[in-house]
Amino acid sequence: MQKRIYFDNAATTALAPAVLDVMLPYMTEKFGNPSSIYSYGRESRLAIESARKSVAKILNAHPAEIFFTSGGTESSNTAITASVRDLGCKRIITSPIEHHAVLHTAEYLRNRGEAQLSFVKLLPNGHIDLDNLEQLLAGSEEKTLVTLMHANNEIGNLLDLHAVGEMCKLYGAIFHSDTVQTVGHYSIDLRHTPVHFITAAAHKFHGPKGVGLLYINENVSIHPYIHGGSQERNMRAGTENLYGIVGFAKALELATAAYATDSEFIRSIKQYMAEQLKKHIKGVGFNGDFTGRSLYTVLNVSLPKTEKSEMLLFNLDINNICASGGSACTSGADQGSHVIRSVNNNPNRVAVRFSFCRHNTKEEVDIVVEKLKELI
Ligand SMILES: Cc1ncc(COP(=O)(O)O)c(C=O)c1O
Repeated sequence: MQKRIYFDNAATTALAPAVLDVMLPYMTEKFGNPSSIYSYGRESRLAIESARKSVAKILNAHPAEIFFTSGGTESSNTAITASVRDLGCKRIITSPIEHHAVLHTAEYLRNRGEAQLSFVKLLPNGHIDLDNLEQLLAGSEEKTLVTLMHANNEIGNLLDLHAVGEMCKLYGAIFHSDTVQTVGHYSIDLRHTPVHFITAAAHKFHGPKGVGLLYINENVSIHPYIHGGSQERNMRAGTENLYGIVGFAKALELATAAYATDSEFIRSIKQYMAEQLKKHIKGVGFNGDFTGRSLYTVLNVSLPKTEKSEMLLFNLDINNICASGGSACTSGADQGSHVIRSVNNNPNRVAVRFSFCRHNTKEEVDIVVEKLKELI
């Protein structure tokens, strides 16, 4: 059996051994409850606060702006719901290609009559139409939340956070960005980025699953989302995910130290795969702005629909190759991708997302391309 080839790093990544090393003591001997007042508990508290400081420093934010959560989904739910319920937003502007953590939350609030919902138009290459965003912002006096992702997890398109943030500022809108695919992959300077909320999940950059962050700009004040104890400065009750938080900080620290080399290497893998596919597979195309403003980690491949290509993910799996058709949360359900439908709704094409990390190699690309040639 061929060794497994993991080309689904936008879904999740392998935990880095060095991250596990710093987490393990907090699962074994250092298990004190961070809220306990004796020294054993205080050590755990110290570990959480050091993690917060380290993360804040890397993102150029204040530690008081960093809240640890269970991941990207919880962070976006919190930011969007709080914008409506606490910050007075009566309208949400988003795009049809957001992650479901955003889309379903916005739809829920709309369905309950708590906010209106508007969708910004997309350009043919899948980027947000910023002129249309401005028209939407100018078209209503209602306090508005703009929620637009920094990078699309399926097609990789990158948003100009600064341009959108400045536009939101001009119209007095609250700006939330789902940055789950970019934190740990790009340098983010929150002191100089006009955004109210951003989100992250450690498992997207070789950290543990089940831990993420919500950045809340110091100029906005929201109510607690989870009620109970006074953890996370009264914002998120419940005993903290101590080892997860320690792991989050370490993973971000390692990713930041390796940005330059890792991004260059991973970009070369993506480019190589695109070239090889173009060379060997007739009719291949790519969804999104794949050579322009796009994640260096994601290549969304578009293939002519045939009986064989429709079975592709299944057959790749049989051959021990991990890739995905949509986001990780929908790929099992096989409903097709809402992102691909919005960007390039062609019933005669199928889309497969390959996403890379520093552990991948050109040899793996060769094997996958060879397999693809056989399978389609
Ligand atoms: C863009 C984006 N947002 C949100 C999420 C959800 O993150 P999590 O699974 O950590 O809640 C993901 C990952 O699946 C994602 O890719």
